[in-house]
Amino acid sequence: MPVWRKWFSSNVAAQKTLERVISKAGLGSRTQARSWIHARRVKVNGKIVENPDHWVDFDRDRVEFDGKPLEVSEKVYLLLHKPTGYITTFKDPEGRPTVYDLLQGVETFLSPVGRLDLDTSGLLILTNDTQLAERMTNPDHHVPKTYLVACEKPVSDDDISSLRRGVVLNDGPTRPAIVSRKGADRVEMVITEGRNRQVRRMLEAVGNKVITLTRVKIGQLEIGDLPVGRWRALTPRELEKLAAGNQRHRN
Ligand code: URA
Repeated sequence: MPVWRKWFSSNVAAQKTLERVISKAGLGSRTQARSWIHARRVKVNGKIVENPDHWVDFDRDRVEFDGKPLEVSEKVYLLLHKPTGYITTFKDPEGRPTVYDLLQGVETFLSPVGRLDLDTSGLLILTNDTQLAERMTNPDHHVPKTYLVACEKPVSDDDISSLRRGVVLNDGPTRPAIVSRKGADRVEMVITEGRNRQVRRMLEAVGNKVITLTRVKIGQLEIGDLPVGRWRALTPRELEKLAAGNQRHRN
């Protein structure tokens, strides 16, 4: 059995759309996959397929890209210290810088594990291991993310108590946060959800405003002294910790 088929059979449900198959093989984003399919670069069982939503059955179908059988690239795991002013999507219609502009020398297509806002800096994991990414971003897995938060106004003890209990946002109540004071207007917050602009909205819910936000830790993985704008590969030890932590948060 070809290596890519073996991988797919053991890792994902047997049927997927062609667009997902291409993107999950680590060749590019789903948007890129669609454009390649429309550009007639993809064949299924020897025939060009132009429909990105075409269903592919891994046990039966043979997929080729530019005439070569689809191969699964080696798993790559990076840690990037994202600066503010960069978005975490692959392409921005407004032409703003993206985190991909910072990945010089990385040849495999990687996806960010969760997102950081344009105005948030800090730890971002990028990988082509879609299973790990899915596990880490699954809200049921409660993976803790640690942020350093500088606020516009002093954060009162009452505000800290409210954040610790969890606050009500327009998309529902949050889980309790672990909050430690780091100064009159600074806190460290650990949250186990990944809702849109969650930390900012939680601070707004207690009448404050976030001025700077930096993610310093995901599970046991820390940003350490990696300079802003730089990336490095995760060490085997860090990967082990990530996988073990993920297992632990699920239980
Ligand atoms: N919470 C936010 O408000 N923004 C982020 O980027 C991450 C968490």
